[in-house]
Amino acid sequence: MLKGIKDLPGPKGLPLVGTMFDLDLPILHQQIEQWADTYGDVFRLDLPIKNQMVVTRPSMIQAISADRPEGFVRAKKMNTILQEGGVHGVFNAEGEEWRIHRSLVTKGLDVKHQKQFFPHLVSTIERLFEKWKKDAVSGEPFSIQQDLLRFTVDVSVWLAFGYEINTLEQKGGVIQDHMEKIFPTLFKRINDPIPWYRIIRSRESREFDNAVLEINKLVDKFITDAKSKIEQDPELKEHPSNLIQAILVASETESKIGPKEVRGDLLTLLMAGEDTTAHTLNWMIFELASLPDIQRSIRKELDEVLLNDEYIKEYTLNSKLKYIEAVTNESLRFRPVAPIILHEAIRDTVIEGYEIKSGQMILTQHRHSALNDKYFTNAKSFQPERWLKESRCPVHNTDAFTPFGSGPRYCPGRNLAILEIKNVIAMLFKNFEVELVTPANDVKEIMAFTMMASEFKVRLKKKKGGRNLPTNLN
Ligand code: HEM
Repeated sequence: MLKGIKDLPGPKGLPLVGTMFDLDLPILHQQIEQWADTYGDVFRLDLPIKNQMVVTRPSMIQAISADRPEGFVRAKKMNTILQEGGVHGVFNAEGEEWRIHRSLVTKGLDVKHQKQFFPHLVSTIERLFEKWKKDAVSGEPFSIQQDLLRFTVDVSVWLAFGYEINTLEQKGGVIQDHMEKIFPTLFKRINDPIPWYRIIRSRESREFDNAVLEINKLVDKFITDAKSKIEQDPELKEHPSNLIQAILVASETESKIGPKEVRGDLLTLLMAGEDTTAHTLNWMIFELASLPDIQRSIRKELDEVLLNDEYIKEYTLNSKLKYIEAVTNESLRFRPVAPIILHEAIRDTVIEGYEIKSGQMILTQHRHSALNDKYFTNAKSFQPERWLKESRCPVHNTDAFTPFGSGPRYCPGRNLAILEIKNVIAMLFKNFEVELVTPANDVKEIMAFTMMASEFKVRLKKKKGGRNLPTNLN
C-alpha cells in the first residue's frame, strides 16, 4: 500500500505550530540525524505552513535528484529569497533557463579551463605559502579558516572575472566580510517557517542588504570592465578568456540570459565556490591535526610525487596524489559542508512506495547514511584507505556518498574544488607541522547554509627534517 505524507512517523509537535519551536537551525543537520535514528530514513516534520518530508535513504535521494528539473525543483521559497538577494543564476534557475545557465557554467569549469587556470592557482598557493611561512616563524596561534576563505575568494574571483584581488594579503574590509553576512541570513530565511524578516527590519537584515549591495556593486564593476575589454578586442568574442567574457558573449545571442542573469551566475559562482571549498579544507585540516598516522602517509606520498618541490608546480602531478584524494573523500564523508538540500515536487509521483504530491517540500539530508554501517564498513571511523582500490572495505556503497549532490544538478565545481583542496593540503603538509591549539572537543559544527566549524586556532611549525623556508615577507 502507498504511504502518503500523513502516514509518516515524526517528532510530535504542538498543535498549529508543529515542530517549529523545536528546530534549532545552527544544528538542524544534527537534529535530522537524531530524528532519522528514531523515526527511520523517511519521516515527517510538522511545520505551520507546509509539512515537510525528510529523506536520508540514499536510493530515494538518488531518485529525487535524478528527476530534476522535470519532477523536482529547488524549493520555490529558496528561489524567491535568493532573488530578493539579487541571485538569479544557475543555482536557482529552473527548466529550460537552468539548462542554458548550466551549460555555460559547466563549460567554464571544465578540465580545459582548469588547465588554463592552473598557473594562477599555483601563484595563489605561493602567496598562501608565504603567509604561512611567516606564521610558522612567529609561532602565534591563528585562525586558518580566515586564510582559507581569502584563498578561495582569490581563486574564485580570478576564475569567474579574470581579476587578481589578492585578499590574502589584506587585513579587513575585504569581500569576505560581506559574504560572511550573506550565508547565515539566507539560511535562516530559507528555513524560518514564518518570514519574520519581511515584518521586522532587524540589524541582521540591514547588514544583509548592505552586504548584497556591496557585492553587487563589485560584480557590476567587473561586468563593465569585461564589456569594455570585449569591445576593444573583438577576438574575445570568438575565444573568451574567462567565464565572465563567455557569459557576456552568450548573453548577446541567448534571449534567456539578460543582464540580471549574467550578474546572477557570476554572483552564484563567487558564493558557491568560496565558502564550500574553504570550509571543507578547514574541516580537513582540523581532522588531520589529530591524526599523525594519516599525516605520515600524506607526507610519504608528497615526498614521492613532489620530490624536493614545496608545492605542486605541474598540473599532471595532481592525478598522482591518490592518497590525498582518498583523505579528501573521507573528510567529505564526515563533514559534508552542504549536507541539506531542499526540494519541491512539481508533479505527483511515487518513489519506493511513498506517494509524493505536487507542491510537497522534501528535505534530503546527505550525511546520515554516509556515517551508517549499512553503507560503509566501520562508518564512524576515519579511514581514508577505504577509498583506495587496493584497500577497499567490504561495504562501500557510494550511493550514500553525495557531498556534491547527485543527478543532473550535482555540483559543477566539484573538480575545481578537489584541485584547490589537493594543492593546499599538499603545500601545507609538505612544509609544516600543524598543531591544534583549541581543544578538539570545543570545536562544534555550525549550520549556516554551509556546515562550518566554530572558530579554532592552529599553530604552524616548520616540518621536522624539512628544508629551511626562506620567507619573502620579512
Ligand atoms: C568542497 C566544495 C564544494 C561542495 C561540497 C559543493 C557542494 C555542492 C552541492 C551539495 C550542491 C547542490 C547539488 C544538488 O542540488 O544536487 C552544489 C551546487 C553547485 N555548486 Fe558546489 N560545492 C563545492 C564547490 C563548488 C565550487 C568550487 C563551485 C564553482 C566555482 C561550485 C558551484 C556550484 C554551482 C554553480 C551549483 C549549482 C548547480 C545547479 O544547480 O545546477 N561549487 N554544490
